[in-house]
Amino acid sequence: MTWTPDSWRTKTALQQPNYPDLDALAGVEKELASSPPLVFAGEARSLRSQLRQVARGEAFLLQGGDCAESFAEFHVDLIRDTFKVMLQMSVVLTYGASLPVVKVGRMAGQFAKPRSSDFETQGGQELPSYRGDIVNGIAFDADSRTPDPSRLMRAYHQSALTLNLLRAFAQGGMANLDEVHRWNLEFIKDTDQSERYEKLASDLDETLAFMRAIGLSPDTIHQLRETDFYTSHEALLPGFEQALTRIDSMTGDHYACSAHMLWIGDRTRQIDGAHVELLRGVENPIGLKCGPSLTPDELVRLVEVLDPDNDPGRLTLITRHGADNVAEYLPPLIKAVQREGFEVVWSCDPMHGNTVVSANGFKTRPFELIVSETEQFFDIHRSFGTYPGGIHFEMTGQNVTECTGGAMQIEEANLADRYHTHCDPRLNASQALEFAFILADQLKASRVTPAR
Ligand code: PEP
Ligand code: CO
Repeated sequence: MTWTPDSWRTKTALQQPNYPDLDALAGVEKELASSPPLVFAGEARSLRSQLRQVARGEAFLLQGGDCAESFAEFHVDLIRDTFKVMLQMSVVLTYGASLPVVKVGRMAGQFAKPRSSDFETQGGQELPSYRGDIVNGIAFDADSRTPDPSRLMRAYHQSALTLNLLRAFAQGGMANLDEVHRWNLEFIKDTDQSERYEKLASDLDETLAFMRAIGLSPDTIHQLRETDFYTSHEALLPGFEQALTRIDSMTGDHYACSAHMLWIGDRTRQIDGAHVELLRGVENPIGLKCGPSLTPDELVRLVEVLDPDNDPGRLTLITRHGADNVAEYLPPLIKAVQREGFEVVWSCDPMHGNTVVSANGFKTRPFELIVSETEQFFDIHRSFGTYPGGIHFEMTGQNVTECTGGAMQIEEANLADRYHTHCDPRLNASQALEFAFILADQLKASRVTPAR
């Protein structure tokens, strides 16, 4: 079947807002279609080639950020701090496991959320569920819950501003390895994680001093001075993605230009659905969330459709089964992929299968379950001889109390202190750093390329 940027419109799209004014929606989509792309095809291609290295076991994918960005929590400090934590995690992994790390933010466009129910009831009143700031408002009143197409435009502009900052942070000096101590955030100073990180940063300083002595310094080597930082989000709203899909003048291929990488969520991966149809035709690297309801046969059919050329780097399978389920569900998926000879990136999302409700009513994620799913993911891949190539996680650089546990020992009783998320509970900076050290140990044990 031929693909066009709008061929998804003949298919069923689940998880869509019910816009009361479809003319207004069409008007906004038209405006988006004539607005500049947020990213360029060449950038998406370089991410794809870096992911090819990941698929071959020569690099590691670190994909993280907010569950949902919001209009209210849009501030340079928040973006900077999340960026710094990603840099810290990346340095821990690179230094600890001697592997390049491909950094991809759930940022600059991660707004739309799938929901388990179309409606929410409070005090006898039923209103549309909150679907992310790109669709409607979180306040529980009829006005803010009505899907409003002008929010698409606002999300587009906020994404552009966020990307502008990320590009400046990545290339304008902040990512300079000489700054490695300054990435440590104030609120985690004096914790075990911070000490461990400072020790690693000091070792790195010595290495840099040695390199400087032999004439290699951030002034002369751009890899020491700047980094590549890519963006990604769930492609939940096909109309928005279609409007930002462009033909690359160099190759004549279509690229989704709202982010470098897009993924299909666990609730919208129907083989005959609109989301799969849209993403099969764009040349970006794409992700596919794989939860417990995905059968090996379905996965094989999805890979055939999404990566028909079996091109390593094109497709990242993001498995998210939960600590109690991963041992049962992941092996059959790996076996099917191995049997078919598919060369994919395997990444683990240890967040979305480990959400629980605390005794005091907070949606939370115990740190030990996140670690447990991650360690099982590594072990299982090691036992199959496949490469555990990445991690996909929800995190913020702020001092929130949303996930329990970790060295900070956040208890259920502490959750109320700083519970700020608009959607799912995120690791805070200290928990994220602790997680990076655990990952580095796992990765060292799984590395297929020997450190030279
Ligand atoms: C998410 O990544 O925020 C999400 C909703 O995940 P999933 O589709 O895996 O449930
Ligand atoms: Co989430």
